[in-house]
Amino acid sequence: MEPNRVRPTGKTLTLYFVTGNRNKYEEAREVMERELPPGTLEFHPIEVEKLEIQSERLDKIALFAARHAYSIVRHPLLVEDSGLFVKALRGFPGPYSSYVFEKLGPSGILRLMENSSDRSAYFETAIAVIIPPYEKVFKGRVEGIITRQIRGNKGFGFDPIFEPSGTGKTFAEMSISEKNLYSHRSQAFKKLAQWLKTLIQGSTRHMSSK
Ligand code: IMP
Repeated sequence: MEPNRVRPTGKTLTLYFVTGNRNKYEEAREVMERELPPGTLEFHPIEVEKLEIQSERLDKIALFAARHAYSIVRHPLLVEDSGLFVKALRGFPGPYSSYVFEKLGPSGILRLMENSSDRSAYFETAIAVIIPPYEKVFKGRVEGIITRQIRGNKGFGFDPIFEPSGTGKTFAEMSISEKNLYSHRSQAFKKLAQWLKTLIQGSTRHMSSK
């Protein structure tokens, strides 16, 4: 089957976000709706088995998974991979965040850090986007601290123990739009939206010069 290509001007680009995590999708959707002109993008979640390579690098993990997903879906899509990197734990859990979340949860991280006075940590996201003929990776990072206690009941994952610098609130104490002012994910999706704008404008120019 011939892969789908970017639909030039006038038509809406449909882009799939390969994820089973509704929270991630809702956060991303809020950014895309804010950043892109209405009618330019249809953005939907899709569940495809995520094939993960073992790597220290989120961009490599995301790109590999995106290529695999594309081989099944054959339609413009993106895969996102994120991790929490804790300085006192030498970057752990990093690329193993989802496994560690399942096995230890946020309280497990707090226990590992009971005797650590250095609470600094960051979240990082890499988004791998495949829109033939393009393959692009966009990254985002937010610095902050690991709290001493679990706080808040919004969000997901390690949100209740991560406080972005200067906010005094954990991600789990913020609404989606407030989290998006700071988050690793929103930064990466903003970069994606900027690139999509140039792509859409480029295809518009291409069409009008014909
Ligand atoms: P994934 O492999 O990209 O799904 O993310 C790995 C793990 O990191 C997830 O299972 C979450 O526990 C955690 N994580 C990723 N992004 C966030 C976030 O924005 N807030 C809190 N935890 C997150």
